Amino acid sequence: MPPSHATDRWTSARHGLPKAYGSTDLIVLGVGVMIGAGIFSLAGRQAATMAGPGVILSFMIAGITSLLVAFCFAELASAMPTSGSAYTFTYVIFGEVWAWIVGWALLLELLLAVATVARAWSLYAAQMLTDLGVSLSGPLTGMVGKEEGFDLFALFILVALTAVVALGARIGLRALWIIVIAKLLAVGAVIVIGATHFDQRNLAAIPVPATPATGDADTLHSPLLGIVFGQTGAFGWFGIFAASAAITFAYIGFDVVATAAEESEDAPRSIPKGIIRGLILTTVVYIAVALVMVGMTPYNKIDPSAPLANAFRQAGEGFMVHIINIGAVLGLTTVILVLLVGLTRVMFSMARDGLIPRSLSTINRSYHSPTRVTLLIGGLAILLAEFVPVLTLEPLVVIGALFVFVTVAGGVIRMRRTMPDLPRGFRTPLSPGVPIASIAACLWLMVNLQVVTWLYFIIWMSFGVLVYLMYGRRNSVLAGARPVAELPAVVPPDSGFRGRHRR
Ligand code: ALA
Repeated sequence: MPPSHATDRWTSARHGLPKAYGSTDLIVLGVGVMIGAGIFSLAGRQAATMAGPGVILSFMIAGITSLLVAFCFAELASAMPTSGSAYTFTYVIFGEVWAWIVGWALLLELLLAVATVARAWSLYAAQMLTDLGVSLSGPLTGMVGKEEGFDLFALFILVALTAVVALGARIGLRALWIIVIAKLLAVGAVIVIGATHFDQRNLAAIPVPATPATGDADTLHSPLLGIVFGQTGAFGWFGIFAASAAITFAYIGFDVVATAAEESEDAPRSIPKGIIRGLILTTVVYIAVALVMVGMTPYNKIDPSAPLANAFRQAGEGFMVHIINIGAVLGLTTVILVLLVGLTRVMFSMARDGLIPRSLSTINRSYHSPTRVTLLIGGLAILLAEFVPVLTLEPLVVIGALFVFVTVAGGVIRMRRTMPDLPRGFRTPLSPGVPIASIAACLWLMVNLQVVTWLYFIIWMSFGVLVYLMYGRRNSVLAGARPVAELPAVVPPDSGFRGRHRR
């Protein structure tokens, strides 16, 4: 697919998205989608069980990896500002089959993340009400705040946010600004008040060497790396790396900003800024929260089920429990909202290309939003959240994302060779060094994920190839499009990369 097709082709009235985001909105979008379950729940769990105070290093490792990848996303998004993001970049650079594979991995990453965060939302919402003294007995008994099985709160948040997205991004955007500011205030309070209880002796207790969790962990639940090196386990460097892989979940979302390209003003410049600034802000916040958390409480006293709240309770700052609960409920709300928006945009693009039913790419005339595909995704997320133990599947979200990141970094290297003159609003610094480093860092994190995660991932991707062979290949609008390098005439001088107003 030529880049001009990716950006110009299908944006006719009923298949194009209206402009909604300015450059600051994109930073808010990034912060809105990143700061969530990763910092409110996962960080403490990883500190308590895997990395101890070394969790700060884990956040740095995952943050640096994400930043390297973000440069690559920024370059491709600035050259091809379309709603399909990594899926469309891959279509242009590597051809249809790879594009489908990346689209399928994105579906895994984003859909599962939506379902997982919805369950985490329910846990926090139930906790918030309980801490406020609201009784959850009576008709709600056993129906809310559960890790598995039917959960009314998870259903509620998914139905509500699907409706918001289906009614159009503008409605969502106003709410998003307010909620993101409230979430940042809550996280700011955690950092400032937590810092007053900081005890540096807690940091000195980095547990080394690795405690072989292998005694009770079977092969399936060991990191893939353990099979190769014969040694892994909790704590020590292996624990820090395993925690980095898990913590990548916290950074998931910077890539989602690229899916807003078609709806952004001056996308070739605003998208790179939005991705990179949002990620840097989030990384700083994460490292500060992690530092405070492990500085307040010895790592072996961190409660993995409610790490931040209990750290403050133990420090005698009971009121912070409410701030954390409210911050988490708000924070997780925007994560789900932006993930839903991002996923609808990717699937909308896949539908526009005919790889999934083309009727899903219809823009609703009243709401100017891809309502059909939004409702489908909302429905799938509900099924997943209600019937699958998604809270145990966070690593599957991570492996899907890292797979996509590797492809995007590879795409930068290839596109520099095959389309050197394509206008780019942003260029990855030190290329190919940064893309190569991105690929290496992502692969390293991937081999630190458990064998069982790899198995599930391989099963999911194989199923995706079958779906492509049975549906996508036959219905593709560009039927078996080759990578652009193999096409005879390619890029017109101006391929519509400037942001166009279609309000
Ligand atoms: N990064 C998002 C979170 O941590 C998915 O909730």
